[in-house]
Amino acid sequence: MIDERTLARWITDAVVRRPVLWRLARGRMRDMFERIAPTWETRIGPHHLGALRKAVAEIEAPARVLDVGTGTGVAALALADWFPAAEVVGVDLSPAMLAEAESKGSRVRFQVADASRLPFADGSFDLVVLMNAVPFFDELARVTAAGGTIAFSFSRGPETPIYVAAERLRRELARRGFAEFEEFLADPATAFRARKR
Ligand SMILES: C[S@@+](CC[C@H](N)C(=O)[O-])C[C@H]1O[C@@H](n2cnc3c(N)ncnc32)[C@H](O)[C@@H]1O
Repeated sequence: MIDERTLARWITDAVVRRPVLWRLARGRMRDMFERIAPTWETRIGPHHLGALRKAVAEIEAPARVLDVGTGTGVAALALADWFPAAEVVGVDLSPAMLAEAESKGSRVRFQVADASRLPFADGSFDLVVLMNAVPFFDELARVTAAGGTIAFSFSRGPETPIYVAAERLRRELARRGFAEFEEFLADPATAFRARKR
C-alpha cells in the first residue's frame, strides 16, 4: 500500500505538470487530509514558519491576504499576527483540517474551497501564500492583485512531500506576469517569493 508522503508527492508532481489530472486525484487528496487532520500538527515543528517569515518580512503591508491549502491554519494565524491590519482568509479542501483551524478562535476567516477554482474575484488579494500546498498557477495568478506578492513555502525544503522546485515556480509564474523572484532559506525550510507586475 502506498504511503501518504509518496501519494502526496505523486499527486503534486502530476498536477503541476498536468493540472487537468487534479479531477482524478482530488478525492484521494481530500480523504488523506480528512484522516490526518487531528494529528497534522504533530508532524510539524518549529522549522515550519521560518522561511515564510523571511519571505514576507520586507513586503509592503497587505490589506487582503489569502492562505491557500491553509490546513489547520498555522500560516494564516501567523500572517494575521504579522499583518495586524490585514483581512486574512484561509481556504482548504478538507473540512476536518478547517475545523482544527477554527477551533483556535482567531480573527482569520476560514472557508472550504478548491485551489483549482477559487471563489474570489480577479485581483482580490495583495498577498497570496501557499505553505506545503499544491499550486494551481492560473488561479493563483488570477486572484493576485497587480503589484501583489505571492509566497510559497516548503517547511522541509525539497524533502517536503508537497514540494515544487524554485525553477519550476519561476517558470510558471514568469509566464503569468510575475517577476522579482527571490528565494529564502531557514534550514530546512525554503520559500520563494514573486511580485505580479
Ligand atoms: C500538507 S498540508 C499543509 C497545511 C498547511 N498549509 C501547513 O503547512 O501546515 C496541505 C493542505 O492542502 C490542502 N489541499 C490539498 N489540495 C487542495 C486544493 N486543491 N485546494 C485547497 N486545499 C487543498 C489539504 O487539505 C491540506 O490541508
